[in-house]
Amino acid sequence: EKKIIIAIDGHSSCGKSTMAKSLAKKLGYVYIDSGAMYRVVTLVALRKGWIVNKVPDTEKVIAGLSDIKITFKWDEELGKNTTFLNGENVEDEIRQLEVSENVSPISTIAEVRHEMVRQQRQNGKNKGIVMDGRDIGTVVFPDAELKIFMTASPEIRAQRRYLELTEKGDKVNFEEILANVEGRDKIDSNRAVSPLKKADDALILDNSNLNREQQLEWTINKVREIT
Ligand code: C5P
Repeated sequence: EKKIIIAIDGHSSCGKSTMAKSLAKKLGYVYIDSGAMYRVVTLVALRKGWIVNKVPDTEKVIAGLSDIKITFKWDEELGKNTTFLNGENVEDEIRQLEVSENVSPISTIAEVRHEMVRQQRQNGKNKGIVMDGRDIGTVVFPDAELKIFMTASPEIRAQRRYLELTEKGDKVNFEEILANVEGRDKIDSNRAVSPLKKADDALILDNSNLNREQQLEWTINKVREIT
């Protein structure tokens, strides 16, 4: 059975990572969350005070890139990836709303994207990888054997994010989350460098009315058709 590269792109909070994770697990593939990488850069920029009113100091961010080492470790017990910044576990911190609210401006910086893409390609060298993000099928792995473009309505995505954060005990407001989801859609789809867009050869998976099992089954069937 041959190993392939699976690229999963789509809007914010539409279940890409949940699907990508269970898919990787089922296939025995490596899972890489490319959004986590942009979140780490954002976290560093916030900590260093390089972002003021959501406007990053581009030069400082670019100069700081070489000091950022991002690694992932699969946590068997939790069944998820843990993200590390220079060896520090930052998994929870990068999911907080403050990071979500500042990540899109950071990810419009061409040099940031360039460095992240370089690292992402490094991870895919040996195939057998599932990577999710915004530009995986279009830019990072244009030759990926399977490309999926996931989407769902903004309200459904905000609702899912709301549940996820409240379950963790975060005090959040639904309207604020919906505004964040819609705001990120807008910036991600309209930025000059690698905007979020469906690759011509990507398959669309609208999961507004599908549960996790149904989505996984749909995708596994696509994988089986290829491998
Ligand atoms: O996937 P997630 O929502 O965690 O991604 C956070 C942000 O990182 C996105 O809103 C987007 O601005 C950026 N991103 C990106 N390219 C990717 C993955 C994420 O620009 N491949």
